[in-house]
Amino acid sequence: MKDNSKTFYITTPIYYPSDNLHIGHTYCTVMADAMARFKRLQGFDVRFLTGTDEHGQKIQKKAQAKGVTPQEYVDNVVAGIIKLWETMEISYDDFIRTTQPRHEKRVQEIFRRMYAKGDIYKSEYEGWYCTDCEAFWTDTQAPDGICPDCGRKIGRAKEEAYFFKLSKYADRLRELFTTTDFLQPQTRVNEMLSFIDQGLEDLCISRSSFDWGIPVPIDEKHVIYVWLDALSNYMTALGYPNEDGSSSELYEKYWPADYHLVGKEIVRFHSIIWPAMLMSIDEPIPQHVLGHGWLLIDGGKMSKSKGNVVDPVKLIERYGVDALKYFLLREYTFGSDGQFTNEVMLNRMNYDLANDLGNLVSRTTSMIEKYCGGIIPGPGKEEGPDAELKAMATGCYKLVEAAMDKFQFNIALEEIWKVIRRTNKYIDETMPWALAKDPAQAKRLETVMHNLADALRIVSILIYPFMHTTSSKIREQLGIEGEPVWKQVEFFDMLNGQVAHKGEPIFPRMDVAKELEELEAMNAAQKAAVEAAAKAAAPAEEAAKAAEPAEKAGADGESEFAPYKDFIEFDDFDKIDLRAGTIIKAERHPKADKLLVFQVDLGSEVRQIISGVAGSYTPEECVGKHVMAVVNLKPRMLRGLESNGMLCFGCDLKNNKFTFVGADVPNGQIIG
Ligand code: MSP
Repeated sequence: MKDNSKTFYITTPIYYPSDNLHIGHTYCTVMADAMARFKRLQGFDVRFLTGTDEHGQKIQKKAQAKGVTPQEYVDNVVAGIIKLWETMEISYDDFIRTTQPRHEKRVQEIFRRMYAKGDIYKSEYEGWYCTDCEAFWTDTQAPDGICPDCGRKIGRAKEEAYFFKLSKYADRLRELFTTTDFLQPQTRVNEMLSFIDQGLEDLCISRSSFDWGIPVPIDEKHVIYVWLDALSNYMTALGYPNEDGSSSELYEKYWPADYHLVGKEIVRFHSIIWPAMLMSIDEPIPQHVLGHGWLLIDGGKMSKSKGNVVDPVKLIERYGVDALKYFLLREYTFGSDGQFTNEVMLNRMNYDLANDLGNLVSRTTSMIEKYCGGIIPGPGKEEGPDAELKAMATGCYKLVEAAMDKFQFNIALEEIWKVIRRTNKYIDETMPWALAKDPAQAKRLETVMHNLADALRIVSILIYPFMHTTSSKIREQLGIEGEPVWKQVEFFDMLNGQVAHKGEPIFPRMDVAKELEELEAMNAAQKAAVEAAAKAAAPAEEAAKAAEPAEKAGADGESEFAPYKDFIEFDDFDKIDLRAGTIIKAERHPKADKLLVFQVDLGSEVRQIISGVAGSYTPEECVGKHVMAVVNLKPRMLRGLESNGMLCFGCDLKNNKFTFVGADVPNGQIIG
């Protein structure tokens, strides 16, 4: 039986090894690592799980394109991911791969149990499927054949499949959201409730049009839907379930998970499908799912095809692991999206790390060497600013604990930096160089040196969860032996007689302008390489396309152009009222990342129309554009806002962008 006061189980999503990971993925893992280290420091028995989600159509296609087997493909990428976590000193306790037999057999067992419960039935699936998100969508959710999550054009799927009776659990899910703090932040709860209120449909949980997956145990022609497979990892990694019904030690000890950390676009899978699966197999629901925001670049998602993906390894090579971790944890607010820019990163590193912390360490250790022969003096009489410094240093842990309870890493670090800045100010106030000139102040000088060293000792413990290597370097320079002990942040005057020495600067100062220039040159080179590769690949791709049999292209919705739809009568066409209009206002939908909310001037009125093009355009880019609008489409609620019509967009497949197709026709003019 899990003892919540002692154990702590935290997970990251398991990443798709479809490509190398970028800084956005790193962000989540760095947060989970900081939390795991923090809890360990506080004395919890922590289990920290991460891993890779290796099945599914997307991976199979990637492997095919490379001419290797899916297993070869994932083995190669996963090796890189493991190396990245090693470089970043991520302290996970287990790394699960969904292609491991320990996982596969247990996923089959979970399927069997859901089936035995009467929650799985066979039927036929017909609808949209987004291979990139591995997500099914109904016509209402993807009215234009655009994935509401990633904004890509998606294909139809039609196949015999197994379904999970998700609808059966709607009431229990609603109760979970309204009576517990299971899902955070609160904005995500409202999103999920409105999702349930729109009517939960049963979930298709098998695929038969490809085979890179775990076979359905009762019907080997099908593979288990990749999300059912992936979500189970949080349990299978603990050794649950066993076929003979026995439980595992790890499962007993750590389940239910304390926190699943996930990006906002996969909250839906974790807070609706996952709890419903657990309800079906009668197992406890995780205590919390936390949805974090995205790191954006140029206002949008990082994308390989745009060549703007930020590679964490390159940044680590230049600035070190701790500087990168600090930046990620200090700069962004959990739950909100944040802009990544080199300038913000470099300034953070320079001001907070080189100036504030780096300076404090080098000033303190060099003065102890100079004035005390390197030996940290014991405590002395309290005077002037001493009391304030001590109170701030010993009181900081409470603020850090409170912030960490809410996953507010940035606030925890800001509180620690207040102590660092206060300690720097203490040096300016006490002016040790002046004290050193007056033999009558010898005792006071010792006390000041002691206070400085002791404040820095507390800082070294407080920063440990976020930057443990820096913590060790500071402790080594202060001559402190042993690992940090959390309890010791509450007490002052613990140093006396340690041998301090001034080491290498822990964070050397940078010339930000020069660094910026170099990073920008690197980015430009990366972009140019992507463009050149795309150009080089284009003729080969065209030739391959031309060689494809006509019926194959389009059968899975992957061809450049979808096949024409069936003929309609003129009367049917005549029912569509198509008008010219101008977008006069555009905003992001507050509850759906992919939707833009437009106000369209139709000559006689201004209409609100919502379209799924946020992946292609910023709102600003849309204002002033002429468009064609279907004005007699029944109004529809899209995530809580009414859409009154539909805009027609063309699709520029090469650039993965929608294109406005309106002409300079007067607003309100009938088109037809
Ligand atoms: N395989 C699924 C997760 C299954 S968990 C049972 C998946 N994988 S993913 O590799 O596409 O994404 C993993 C995580 O990385 C998601 O939580 C996603 O939000 C996060 N991020 C990907 N890009 C990101 C940013 N640019 N910024 C922050 N997080 C981002 O989804």
